[in-house]
Amino acid sequence: MFAKFALPLLSISALASNVLAAPFNPRTQSLARRYGSFDNWGGISSFDGFDNFYGEDNFSGVVSSQVVVEQQEEVVCQSISIEIVQQRLLVLQEMARQIITEQVCEVETQTVVFQQFLSSCSQFSSDLLRTSGRHVGYDSNIVSNFGSFYNSDGSLSTSDFGFSGSDAGQSLIVPSGNNWDFSSSPSSVGNAFNAAVGAATGN
Ligand SMILES: *[C@@H]1O[C@H](CO)[C@@H](O)[C@H](O)[C@H]1NC(C)=O
Repeated sequence: MFAKFALPLLSISALASNVLAAPFNPRTQSLARRYGSFDNWGGISSFDGFDNFYGEDNFSGVVSSQVVVEQQEEVVCQSISIEIVQQRLLVLQEMARQIITEQVCEVETQTVVFQQFLSSCSQFSSDLLRTSGRHVGYDSNIVSNFGSFYNSDGSLSTSDFGFSGSDAGQSLIVPSGNNWDFSSSPSSVGNAFNAAVGAATGN
């Protein structure tokens, strides 16, 4: 698990460019289908420029192209206590709540931008299930802005990080070392996903 391999990653970087985009999900994309554009929606000024981020008719920002970064050393997963992982993910969740409640005042815009966040996040499920055709990784350029989230007095920063939604996936790191197996994982990961969805919805 902890071994580092110096394999070049170029060989897999071409994989995603010619695969199909993620399947359309009517549940997560229904807002986009009904409205097409949210720019200036309902005459509410905080919607100004909403579509600039992913583009009109692209509510969830479905990533269609990825560029894998060439690295000196491959990034390899390491298994740590699940509680440590759950803590980090809860921090991200509470930060989303903070950003939405402190940096947007119109509840309509709070609601729509949160739905956009959720539907955009949920694409990662089909990546993990290997049904999207996308690489399973993260954008290192976008992650690198994490240190600029807060001002030195602890308040949320308002600086422009200088990227748009279309930059997501353009500096992709694809960690290796996971147990994905093309013959057995599709069914076992599918079972795990269904059990989790059942647990989440109480079914
Ligand atoms: C939708 O947004 C994603 C993420 O920004 C981008 O990769 C994709 O090209 C966009 N699709 C269209 C049709 O504009």
